[in-house]
Amino acid sequence: MQPIANRYTRLVGIDHPIVQEGLGPFRTPRLAAAVSEAGGLGTVSMPGMPEDIAAGARTFREHILECASLTDRPFAVNIPVGVDSNGDVLPFTDSYLRTALEVREAEPEVARRLRVMTTSAGFPGRYVSLIKDAGMVHQHKVGSTRQAVKAAEAGVDVVIAAGFEMGGHAPSKAVHTFVLVPNVTEAVDVPVLLTGGARDGRGLAAALALGADGVAMGTRFITSTDNSDWHPAYLQALLDAREGDDVAFEGVYGPCRGLRNAASQSLADHAGTDPVELTRWKIESMQRAQTEGDTVNSLVMTGQVAAGITDLITVAEFVPRMAAEAAEVLRSLAS
Ligand SMILES: Cc1cc2nc3c(=O)[nH]c(=O)nc-3n(C[C@H](O)[C@H](O)[C@H](O)COP(=O)(O)O)c2cc1C
Repeated sequence: MQPIANRYTRLVGIDHPIVQEGLGPFRTPRLAAAVSEAGGLGTVSMPGMPEDIAAGARTFREHILECASLTDRPFAVNIPVGVDSNGDVLPFTDSYLRTALEVREAEPEVARRLRVMTTSAGFPGRYVSLIKDAGMVHQHKVGSTRQAVKAAEAGVDVVIAAGFEMGGHAPSKAVHTFVLVPNVTEAVDVPVLLTGGARDGRGLAAALALGADGVAMGTRFITSTDNSDWHPAYLQALLDAREGDDVAFEGVYGPCRGLRNAASQSLADHAGTDPVELTRWKIESMQRAQTEGDTVNSLVMTGQVAAGITDLITVAEFVPRMAAEAAEVLRSLAS
């Protein structure tokens, strides 16, 4: 059943305008495949910023191949455009981007499934033609209307409007989703996805009412039985979170939203630490939360929407139900 088919679902070739967004630096090939299998669009996340760039690229390649082996349907990869204090693009971005394109070129069966490249963080202008020439749909995540217009003018196919409440890499301008999304949908002609704060069919209906073409979610999909790559204690910490339990802090390349805990509070103590050391500490800390389930002394990234999430979903059942719920909400409001 396709209760909500629109220009976005047709562009990407999916049943429901529901996207599981990039959740780096963590492992998400299985979660991504489950979302794609359910009729949404899953995303293989970037696996971090290791000093050994070649090793990182190998891991990314493995994750892409694993996802492609688990689903026959379209899926995406997320590659943040990391930028240093001089405005130079960090080497991991180039490396991951080329890895994704090379895997597609070498493996036609992967290319048939890996149809979407989602860039985020810095401006992706220099990559637009590379992605387009490869025949992929290019989505870019923005935190302001100005960035949305700039991305659309550069030739990006889909804009993801990311509001203040989103988990993980948070926009520095901090415009709330409810303000940002209608501003962006008025300003650009390309399809727009809302990201930040959505968790069910009502959120999708609201996104459509604001002029968006779908939603992209992070936190809702982390808290799922299909997310077996993550430590159960991470998922439980998100289920336990209530309003006010989250905080924005300086992340790896910009602000980040996560749980208020000993680790996020200790960041103030690191003020004098060498920036490279500090970045390494943050990434290792985030990964420790995910692999070892240390949710007190490690950085736990989450969106504010965790405050409304109390159960684990099963993706196969959740995605079509969310789409059907959105269609029902829109129908009942119209009547
Ligand atoms: C644990 C975690 C990791 C994230 N990592 C990334 C990332 O690597 N790249 C990215 O573009 N966004 C990242 N995000 C943001 C998500 O892609 C998505 O935009 C966000 O979670 C949406 O807000 P929501 O959590 O309210 O659904 C991350 C979010 C979380 C919670």
